[in-house]
Amino acid sequence: NGRINVAIDGPAGAGKSTVARKVAESLGYIYVDTGAMYRAVTLAANRSGIEPHESDRLKELVESIHIRLKPGVEGQTVLLNGEDVTQAIRTRDVTLRVSQVASHEAVRTRLVDIQRELAALKGIVMDGRDIGTQVLPQAELKVFLVASVQVRALRRYQELNENERIPLNQLEEEIAQRDHSDENREISPLTCAKDAVVLDSTELTIDQVVALILDLSRTKL
Ligand code: C5P
Repeated sequence: NGRINVAIDGPAGAGKSTVARKVAESLGYIYVDTGAMYRAVTLAANRSGIEPHESDRLKELVESIHIRLKPGVEGQTVLLNGEDVTQAIRTRDVTLRVSQVASHEAVRTRLVDIQRELAALKGIVMDGRDIGTQVLPQAELKVFLVASVQVRALRRYQELNENERIPLNQLEEEIAQRDHSDENREISPLTCAKDAVVLDSTELTIDQVVALILDLSRTKL
């Protein structure tokens, strides 16, 4: 049908979600934020009093909940058992626990199944950590988006609203910590696929990165 799948991976705060959303919009594709799915599982675990290390309880949880991403004009809505949790999954509490929740095999197996199903018909821009390496190894275009940890922390800092304010150096520390967990976990660690194009967004604007990816995608169509 002439459509391709685009995989965008990289560390926290590299601009993946904004870039992926804009690329999807330009191509008329559907954007899938896989981090949002891991966040939704983490939120569900928090609410059920399940700690991020409780492997068996997490397995049971992930197999019993219903997660859905609903594309919309205002951006993507995340539904957990039918409830809109789009905002609730962005709290610091979830952010600090999500990496450990995402390290469990049962959690990943279940979410990867959902992700592959979403991509089956092509025309998907999917962002995450293991999309090019594990979820969609056949994706026609793979981008690995990086940026210095300082710039990533600063970007996140500027997104925080007043009551969320934490010192920039603490934010930088937390991002570095999450990178470390994501890069060093046993199952599907964050790594660059051999056939991915590496883009460093440290000194680029969002729109410049989007334009580069759109150029690349045209060569694959
Ligand atoms: O993309 P975002 O920062 O929202 O992702 C939150 C966390 O979810 C990541 O730090 C990572 O631990 C996990 N994740 C993952 N695999 C993906 C997407 C996200 O392990 N494909």
